[in-house]
Amino acid sequence: MNKSQYLIKMRPGNHILVLGGSGGIGSEVVRALAVNGAEIITIGYGGNRASAEALKQEIEGLGIQTFIAQVDRSSLSAMEATVEAIVVQAGREITGVVDAIGVSPNTPFQNLTLEEVDRVYSVNVRGCVASTKVIAERMITKGIHDAIFVIISSTNGDNSFSAQSLAYDMSKSSLDNLVVSLAEEYASFGIRFIGIAPGWINTGMNDTLPEGMLDREVGFIYMSRQGEPIEVAKFITGVMTDACSYVTGTTFKIDGGYPRRNPSRK
Ligand SMILES: NC(=O)c1ccc[n+]([C@@H]2O[C@H](COP(=O)([O-])OP(=O)(O)OC[C@H]3O[C@@H](n4cnc5c(N)ncnc54)[C@H](OP(=O)(O)O)[C@@H]3O)[C@@H](O)[C@H]2O)c1
Repeated sequence: MNKSQYLIKMRPGNHILVLGGSGGIGSEVVRALAVNGAEIITIGYGGNRASAEALKQEIEGLGIQTFIAQVDRSSLSAMEATVEAIVVQAGREITGVVDAIGVSPNTPFQNLTLEEVDRVYSVNVRGCVASTKVIAERMITKGIHDAIFVIISSTNGDNSFSAQSLAYDMSKSSLDNLVVSLAEEYASFGIRFIGIAPGWINTGMNDTLPEGMLDREVGFIYMSRQGEPIEVAKFITGVMTDACSYVTGTTFKIDGGYPRRNPSRK
């Protein structure tokens, strides 16, 4: 038996871009990747340069080449410029992407405006299409194979806790659809797409929930607690190894057991 072929490994020659790397889940993804075989990491941020900078220092302390980049997904040309700058800075093409960008306003449906729907879709869906399209097409042009996109969706895409996050929930359903469609589109180019749907995770994103809602929701979870960002991050890191070499077009839930229907739910 050849023992080495059973070792779980990350792609050699990798450069992983973590979009939303300044956020609660994204920053833990950066840390987990750094200690499990990432060679070059670029931390993508939106407005929070200070968090990205502090994380870069921390990861460089582990001896991993680390860069930061402000990510502009507002148009294809802006994204092309962002990616070109990232590749020049790192000196290596991107081989893997974790998309942890997302916004999640909480607005009762009765108060939801179309402007808010547009804003959530612009960041969560349109932005994801922009970065995915630009990077995937560039991978083909540059001959990058054995590449992977991990797109962070949400259990809300399948199982909304209430209509008060409707725009967000719909946006996450769209990402699940994107994962399926692009897995098929890019499989022959050696590019895989995997979705990750966290349930309730302990980050600042849930700070704006109405009082009592989080406790009520945690009461429905089989494991009776929120997940920690590190638990999502370690799962994503596993997905980015060759343990998942035959996986594409699937979205995994990480939710501690969260019932799809609960007759007692008020
Ligand atoms: N926390 C949960 O319970 C939970 C559950 C299910 C799914 N998720 C999903 O997990 C992902 C990460 O969430 P999180 O909890 O880590 O949230 P978070 O801490 O608020 O992080 C959000 C990240 O998105 C970036 N971002 C937001 N708008 C952007 C824009 N227009 N352009 C570029 N970057 C932008 C932020 O960058 P800056 O801070 O630099 O602006 C930040 O890095 C999201 O997709 C979220 O929907 C979270």
